[in-house]
Amino acid sequence: ELFRPERPNSRGFDLRDRPELAAIDSARGAYKTHSWTAAPLVADSAAAKGDSAELINPAHPRDVVGRVTWATPDTVAAAVAAAERWDAPAPARAETLNRAADLYEAHFGELFALLHREAGKSLMDAVAELREAVDFLRYYAAHGDSPAGPRGTFACISPWNFPLAIFTGQVSAALAAGNAVLAKPAEQTPLIAHRAVQLLHEAGVPATALQLLPGAGEVGAALTSNPGVDGVAFTGSTETAQIIHRAMAAHLDPGAPLIAETGGLNAMIVDSTALPEQAVQAILESAFQSAGQRCSALRCLYVQQDIADEFLTMLTGAMDTLVMGDPWDPACDLGPVIDAEARAGILAHIEAARAEGRVLKTAPMPGTGHFVPPTLIRVDGIEDLEREIFGPVLHVATFRAERIDAVIDAVNGTGYGLTLGLQTRIDDRVQHVADRIHAGNVYVNRNQIGAIVGSQPFGGEGLSGTGPKAGGPLYLDRFRAHPAPVQQA
Ligand code: NAD
Ligand code: ALA
Repeated sequence: ELFRPERPNSRGFDLRDRPELAAIDSARGAYKTHSWTAAPLVADSAAAKGDSAELINPAHPRDVVGRVTWATPDTVAAAVAAAERWDAPAPARAETLNRAADLYEAHFGELFALLHREAGKSLMDAVAELREAVDFLRYYAAHGDSPAGPRGTFACISPWNFPLAIFTGQVSAALAAGNAVLAKPAEQTPLIAHRAVQLLHEAGVPATALQLLPGAGEVGAALTSNPGVDGVAFTGSTETAQIIHRAMAAHLDPGAPLIAETGGLNAMIVDSTALPEQAVQAILESAFQSAGQRCSALRCLYVQQDIADEFLTMLTGAMDTLVMGDPWDPACDLGPVIDAEARAGILAHIEAARAEGRVLKTAPMPGTGHFVPPTLIRVDGIEDLEREIFGPVLHVATFRAERIDAVIDAVNGTGYGLTLGLQTRIDDRVQHVADRIHAGNVYVNRNQIGAIVGSQPFGGEGLSGTGPKAGGPLYLDRFRAHPAPVQQA
């Protein structure tokens, strides 16, 4: 009942179907050189605005994608003052959010172009991202009705790596419950957030119920320390979540909810019974799709010692088949990382490993663009990873079969708990690992990225997030005045 199976998820696109691919090409073609603008969307038209800046395509730094006018802490104050709960009855809110989902689907060509050119997302990623955004809208619309009522005004602070899906997921959940929303997208991706808010307004969400505040961390900080904000939905790094938690503790009502979905140090265990081709494919997708810029991405692979030599030969060979390049090209497996700063940090990590002779596989760097080649680095174990390296870098360790519990302890010892991958044909081992691992989502004999709204809620524990899981039946309660106690789905 809670999952409402009668609500179908978006169909998405089949990229193996030539007519469908041609339809995508024709719809996005008009936006190949388009330039967008973004600015604060605040109900008080007299609100102050800040400086403006250009946004560039991370694959082609000379391609200017658009221009953004930033919000300032004064814009935030004006938006908080103008915010009004969305007081339409729940069925009317649901109808409006469903209309927004239809508008998102109708504008797929423009949204794909923004995902490629502003966020560096491949076509495969763009299809999945639009689909997830639409699913969030329809799922939360279907679950918005509750006697508990809205909480008040929510700040929704989102990352650049899912600039449409996570942005829309947070905003639509808060709106479905009847709150006023102040949305602060990541500073790297304000253009697509601006288009999303325009479509939500066009669908009928009132301007006072949904306002947009493009800006960097200081705009987020102005929101989380404003006593007019009654709750915060945050997705991003663990460090920023900790800063927000402290800011809220200092300024807000102690009961104000913080829903934080944060980083991960995710492992996959491959034992000697695993199907090697399946495991290799799952590893390529988990570690390198989206250029490794997913909270769920595989960071540390554990291969059983008995099969390690042969398996790593197969894996490094398969890495040669990955196509790195322009995200606009349907053949692209991985695009660029988000910006020059991210690239420099990841390359420094690779160089440090190279100096120690631990790089097992990498590839040449393209001449321009913020690209990082898929790279494999040898480690003794996950404890060698001091932080989440947010890029296409996979670390690999080996383990002896009788030491599998030591592997589980090491993974749990990181304090993170987002995803775990397991490749095995031993049923008892699946149960053994799943019972002991601290991870929000465990993926068996498949890749360990992605989630399906309504049937596979997503979220972590420990340093990876507060729960409840996004896209699941318990999420909306945290946006309400009298939520039920938090429990994981
Ligand atoms: P980030 O923490 O740097 O930024 C996230 C958002 O927080 C941005 O909008 C940023 O402007 C804002 N922000 C920065 N400082 C702030 C402050 N002091 N107060 C309020 N807001 C502030 O993260 P990012 O680099 O944009 O995203 C990548 C991170 O997000 C990775 O760690 C990844 O694992 C995580 N992530 C988690 C999930 C999940 O579901 N668990 C999903 C996607 C990304
Ligand atoms: N559900 C998203 C992923 O799988 C966050 O990467």
